[in-house]
Amino acid sequence: MKPGKDYIIFPLDVSSKEKALKYVTMLKDDIGLFKVGLELFVSEGPAVLKAIREITGAGIFLDLKLHDIPETMRRAFLAASEYRPEFVTVHCDQGEGILKEVALKNPGGTKILAVTLLTSLNSQNLSRLGYTDDYIKDLSRFVLLRARIAKEAGCHGVVCSGHEVSLIKKELPALIALTPGIRPVWSVVGKDDQKRIVTPADAVKGGADYIVVGRPIRDADDPKAAARRVAEEIESSLG
Ligand code: C5P
Repeated sequence: MKPGKDYIIFPLDVSSKEKALKYVTMLKDDIGLFKVGLELFVSEGPAVLKAIREITGAGIFLDLKLHDIPETMRRAFLAASEYRPEFVTVHCDQGEGILKEVALKNPGGTKILAVTLLTSLNSQNLSRLGYTDDYIKDLSRFVLLRARIAKEAGCHGVVCSGHEVSLIKKELPALIALTPGIRPVWSVVGKDDQKRIVTPADAVKGGADYIVVGRPIRDADDPKAAARRVAEEIESSLG
């Protein structure tokens, strides 16, 4: 069994390299991967990845959530894979064609994760966006459909909520499952935009290979202790 801390991905949801490196230095021994998302990557560019690597050997998850026409996706993915992150995310709204473009040209071993459905969206939001059929009444059907498309397209894994992870691992066990929307019972997150949340223990018991835990760690009085507490919860739930 891998150590509890290796399940944890900490998102560097900050705008500057200085702030990001403060968290990297603080948490490098207590989490498995650091996630660099749009805010930090757009603010600081690829240099921030090099700076993180100078501090830690922890993996980097480049969460760019690429979404464009196939040729642009392919070129953007190739550019991102030059930095050798462990994972890059793509959206799969346009069906398997677009993901094939990305998956086929993957020289560097970076794994492609497809976003199934953002955990900030629920059935009501999707209905307002014009989705109307049974798939939005039962979000797990919607997510499983997208996970199948991602698998057929050659993606290595999916980002999915803790509510769907066990279904995905049952139906598509070869896919890596990465689960955001994690809230330990003790976490104090103010105004929360995450809608389909689960605890770390429930996510890994459901089969999540990685969990993204941001604000419950970042907003804790002692972020390092909070990360350790999450890792312990994971280990005791699996052990
Ligand atoms: O734990 P917390 O809610 O603070 O985590 C926020 C992070 O989770 C953000 O970096 C966001 O991009 C990420 N996230 C994600 N996929 C989702 C929902 C959130 O990667 N479906």
